[in-house]
Amino acid sequence: MCGIVGYIGHREAYPVVLKGLQRLEYRGYDSAGIALYDGAELKMCKTKGKVADLKTKLEAEISTKGTVGIGHTRWATHGEPNDVNSHPHYSNSGDIVIIHNGIIENYDSLKKELKTRGYEFKSDTDTEVLVNLIEDVISKEDVKLGKAVQIALNQTIGAYAIAVFNKQKPDELVVARLGSPLAIGVGEDEFFIASDASPFIEFTNNAIYLEDGEMAVVRRGKEVKIRKIKDDSLVDPYIQELQMNLEQIEKGGYEHFMLKEIHEQPSAISDTYRGRMLVDEGIIRMAGMDDNMERIANAKRFIIVACGTSWHAGLVAEYIFEDIARIPVEVEYASEFRYRNPVISENDVVIAISQSGETADTMAAIKLAKEKGAFTFGVCNVVGSSISRETNAGAYTHAGPEIGVASTKAFTTQITVLTLMALKLGKFKGTISHSDFQYHLREMELIPNKIKDSLKSDTIIREIANIYKDAPNCLYLGRGYNFPVALEGALKLKEISYIHAEGYPAAEMKHGPIALIDEQMPVVVIATKKGHYEKVVSNIQEIKSRKGKIIAIVTHGDEEVRDLADHVIEVPETIESLTPLLTTIPLQLLSYHIAVMLGKNVDQPRNLAKSVTVE
Ligand code: F6R
Repeated sequence: MCGIVGYIGHREAYPVVLKGLQRLEYRGYDSAGIALYDGAELKMCKTKGKVADLKTKLEAEISTKGTVGIGHTRWATHGEPNDVNSHPHYSNSGDIVIIHNGIIENYDSLKKELKTRGYEFKSDTDTEVLVNLIEDVISKEDVKLGKAVQIALNQTIGAYAIAVFNKQKPDELVVARLGSPLAIGVGEDEFFIASDASPFIEFTNNAIYLEDGEMAVVRRGKEVKIRKIKDDSLVDPYIQELQMNLEQIEKGGYEHFMLKEIHEQPSAISDTYRGRMLVDEGIIRMAGMDDNMERIANAKRFIIVACGTSWHAGLVAEYIFEDIARIPVEVEYASEFRYRNPVISENDVVIAISQSGETADTMAAIKLAKEKGAFTFGVCNVVGSSISRETNAGAYTHAGPEIGVASTKAFTTQITVLTLMALKLGKFKGTISHSDFQYHLREMELIPNKIKDSLKSDTIIREIANIYKDAPNCLYLGRGYNFPVALEGALKLKEISYIHAEGYPAAEMKHGPIALIDEQMPVVVIATKKGHYEKVVSNIQEIKSRKGKIIAIVTHGDEEVRDLADHVIEVPETIESLTPLLTTIPLQLLSYHIAVMLGKNVDQPRNLAKSVTVE
């Protein structure tokens, strides 16, 4: 969380940094700030609120001139969101300025030590401690900024992506990372620094992704020098060519990124299977699996670690892997798994699912699994992300950048990849017949068009949203493959509309939640033909006899549920294991429309951030 951006070169830094912050705002948005150096003066402006508030304040208060600049958009960890705690932070002399994404865990003891040496602190942040520690090293050891940053970082415990500028050395920026992402855009005599590549994509396609434990000094007009923070050894910079384009990270005529991303699902899913699923040949190609097939297929069990929506995709995968590939699966919250001394052996394959590939708990769970000898496999969306690099092998989801904080296309493309994995394994192990395998591939090929069809229910969904937008609670029920979809539907509603919602396995309702049902309670029931249909219909009867309001997601042409439910939303028919790819769509739209009608900030819901790089 938190977005950092920086520029050093021949252009005016302000527009680059400002635009970069707007692109990174999904990472945190409770406050923002920018520091600029115009060759004589180091100026700074910061404020509680959004990047738009910063723009107004900055343009009124300081000159925007300067060819060096750093900026930050914050998701508060230490210290409440206010002007003072916003980044950048100055050192006591006012010469050095820093932006930081992460947490310095031992900041309190470092702060006490610095105070004994006369340092004063204006903010409650760990970051202000770090910048003064750097200044202290320079004053005590008479070293350059890069060395001082290195010495200071070696005294810290925690996680960081930082950019530091010293006006006494105005031709360089020093950056470092441990546990938080940091990319360096390499242009002609200019460098861009950012938490991901989106801020500099229109200026350069060349990027260096720092590895954990690395730092770099970028000098105007010179080459980048990368070193290991621990032992000072030099690292050869690896410059990657980026595949991202500008269009992918803009709204393209939609009112919100979330809506755009919901509508992108047909193409995101076909991008995810294209080149992998060779239907006529009856083959699935996935390099990460092909290269490690024996190890993966001989696993005694799969453990899936993930958080939030990705954890829900993991639950769907549990059904698919057990059903198709007959491998026992456990699905774990990464945050619980990493701290509970889990039993892991060399016979386990641990699969991390993560859109960002940066989630701190998922990353830690993977590291733990590796230490214990398990084979690790990453299902990530962001290419080159930390989890994708840390795992032994993996498969990308190819959903394209997901900017709305609420995950949509990441979820359905994760399910797509996991389904391909299960089918490939099932074929290899002989747990699925050839004809069934082919049938699955052909059905998967039809999914993008069926999603387009599901998106046509938008008008009905909008009407339903209007009826229930003021409900204080909502229940989501599903069985089998659609149970995780119920959880996901409830999460979507909670996170963007702030309405309390719970997802439940439909049959569990009578063991407690049925007590909640009265004529005020909207209950969303996923009741598609494939998937314990008759049982779900009985559950609907139970709700109806207690006067709950029923919104049912049904298969095209279903008349039975139509007679029982208050509202129905139809989705096309498909095979049971693929129904989550269709039933999820109306639930995403329902939460979207409710949130819009309630006037909520759909793309940047309160208290959330897209990439949770702190535990
Ligand atoms: C919900 C949402 C979060 C993420 C979770 C994991 O809409 O976006 O619950 O799914 O923070 O993030 P990743 O997938 O990046 O590891």
